[in-house]
Amino acid sequence: MDRTEELTSRLNMTRMPRHVAIIMDGNGRWARERMKGRSEGHAEGVNSVHNITKYASDLGIGYLTLYAFSTENWNRPAPEVETLMYLIGWAIRKETPELVANNVHINLLGEIDRLPEEVRRDLEAGREATAHCTGLNLNLCLSYSSRWELTRAMRMIAEEAARGEISADMVNEETVSSHLSTAGIPDPDLLIRTGGEQRISNFLLWQIAYSELYFTPVLWPDFGHEAFLEALVDYQGRERRFGKTSDQVKEEKQN
Ligand code: IPE
Ligand code: IPE
Ligand code: MG
Repeated sequence: MDRTEELTSRLNMTRMPRHVAIIMDGNGRWARERMKGRSEGHAEGVNSVHNITKYASDLGIGYLTLYAFSTENWNRPAPEVETLMYLIGWAIRKETPELVANNVHINLLGEIDRLPEEVRRDLEAGREATAHCTGLNLNLCLSYSSRWELTRAMRMIAEEAARGEISADMVNEETVSSHLSTAGIPDPDLLIRTGGEQRISNFLLWQIAYSELYFTPVLWPDFGHEAFLEALVDYQGRERRFGKTSDQVKEEKQN
């Protein structure tokens, strides 16, 4: 039995995370280790996106949310930003037929208006082509940051209050959630960050309040089936208590 088979045999299919979010980091370092340009690292990263989407879909995971380009990433050198934009458009065009075949539904999160027009068109075409799909929900975070999203939500709520549609004392957690780009999407159960850094980098701050965090040194282009299964097995070994005691959680599980 190889490692992938062993990990698969340890997975409990009835306890799969419903929603996995990933901070895909380490493309640049992957390229540097091979004396290649950063672009090659990003191109290689697209293969990992392809593979992980397929594995998540095959495992019956409901939602896969990928941090592909952050608001702060606009501050990278212009040629790198251009390469990333080109790759995003190219990847979505290339992948759409297989996503449709695998019943994957694309959803776009972030300030999509900031992306170059052709890329926006490619993304929009991918979203429309998969709009009828009912399998894995693939959420692509592009020009996304959590503070951008929360600020926008607060602005929308303030505007509704100013128009008299809601009053301040009606604002609750559900009001906030429903004004985020993730409205209607359950919170991530598992957040994976590849590339070795142990930080959140402005990703889903509200939504990960009770997510299990998993940090791995594996660089994103190297993050394959085995590494993904390792993360899932690790997740399944954890006890999610949501503020309760371990005894309470065990008792609830029995009933
Ligand atoms: C992640 O890889 C891709 C994006 C942030 C767009 P990086 O490009 O951040 O890779 P490192 O962190 O420099 O290795
Ligand atoms: C986080 O990676 C953003 C994405 C993966 C898109 P970064 O490489 O931009 O994160 P920092 O700047 O090192 O925190
Ligand atoms: Mg990085």
